[in-house]
Amino acid sequence: MDPGKCPTGCDRIYATRRLVKIIFATLGNSFDKKTRYETVFGEDLSTRERTFRAPGRVNLIGEHTDYNDGFVMPAAINFSTFVSISQPFDSKLDIFSENFKDSVSVDLTAGPRPRGDWSDYVVGVAVILQAAGYTVRGAKLNIRGEVPIGSGLSSSAAIEVATACALVAISDIKIDRVELAKLCRRAENEFVGARVGIMDQFVSLYGQAKKALLLDCRSLDYELLPLSQEAHLVVCNTMVKHELASSEYNQRREQCEAGVKHLAQALPHITALRDVTLEQLEAYGKDLADVIYRRCRHVITENDRVLKAGDALKRHDLGEFGWLMYESHRSLRDDYEVSCPELDIMVELASRVEGVYGARMTGGGFGGCTVNVVANEHVEEFKRAIAAVYEQKTKLKPEIFVCETADGAGEVTSVPAIQQQAGD
Ligand code: GLA
Repeated sequence: MDPGKCPTGCDRIYATRRLVKIIFATLGNSFDKKTRYETVFGEDLSTRERTFRAPGRVNLIGEHTDYNDGFVMPAAINFSTFVSISQPFDSKLDIFSENFKDSVSVDLTAGPRPRGDWSDYVVGVAVILQAAGYTVRGAKLNIRGEVPIGSGLSSSAAIEVATACALVAISDIKIDRVELAKLCRRAENEFVGARVGIMDQFVSLYGQAKKALLLDCRSLDYELLPLSQEAHLVVCNTMVKHELASSEYNQRREQCEAGVKHLAQALPHITALRDVTLEQLEAYGKDLADVIYRRCRHVITENDRVLKAGDALKRHDLGEFGWLMYESHRSLRDDYEVSCPELDIMVELASRVEGVYGARMTGGGFGGCTVNVVANEHVEEFKRAIAAVYEQKTKLKPEIFVCETADGAGEVTSVPAIQQQAGD
């Protein structure tokens, strides 16, 4: 059957769709009112499409350690990106973003280049799959993201992983999840241009509801640790977007590399800050520039905190876990310098509220969210107290939500209605 034709032969509808398609094609990219790609590309594919979901994440502890071969402890959350994909038809990817109300069409045989917008996360995954030797079929993709953008909850990994799952399924590619996580990170490194580590893509694929994922970013061995049922994870969005993040992020990586290079003169076996102890830094880092020394100190002490936090979770010791979170924030603020006044205010306010075990910035920094571990019976009071005082101090209205953990990426039977978002 002609996929564009109505099965009952209603050719008038088909002709009208073709006309709409021609009009939109003539208008180029200035689509304002469209909601899904069939409106743009002219075919209703709803009966033939499959949908894949990939979650964002909240990182409980272990910040800026993943690209130093270190340890992280994120959890996948119930904000996801959904990619609905049609049967393949040629070498083109026709992509529609419901969030941006924008469409992009690329020919996979023509070596697509980054455009510097949302579509890079999608096209990048296809390009890198191809570069890794996989044959990616053309398809139509409809994208809906719930993970607030620019808030440190990894909307980028969610879109990459959901796209990868969709493309792999429709192209009949056999690939395991570790490889998929690595290719998604490569897409962000090489196509988008952000030198991120593996944490976000990995947890988006391997996360589990009610569990934190303790990941060794060198071996990629991981453990799923049960989260306490006595407390909730509460995420507070400062409403400051992390716009500086990309250039500052890449600079932090270079500073860590500079630290390793210097320390390797005395410690030739080391290849990453993961291999260095605090005692070794103190002994062999005296000649380092102060800023490099502090960057190294953050990474080394943060790795140690993650392992201690893992033990604390296993012992159900929320007091110790929370203390490590505060220490992590202090180190990110003073040594790694990736916090901002609003994040500091948010953490400081949380530390004064009854029932809060710990609080820290989460994600790359320079804005975005804090994560807070709050005793169940104090959650409502926490939300009220933080919302009022934060707004008073910053003139920004924070978004505060109790965060449900979620399973990693997979196929779903439908796209749920848009839920409450923590940001834009
Ligand atoms: C971003 C990156 C991650 C990680 C964090 C900082 O979220 O995508 O790989 O480096 O920043 O911990």
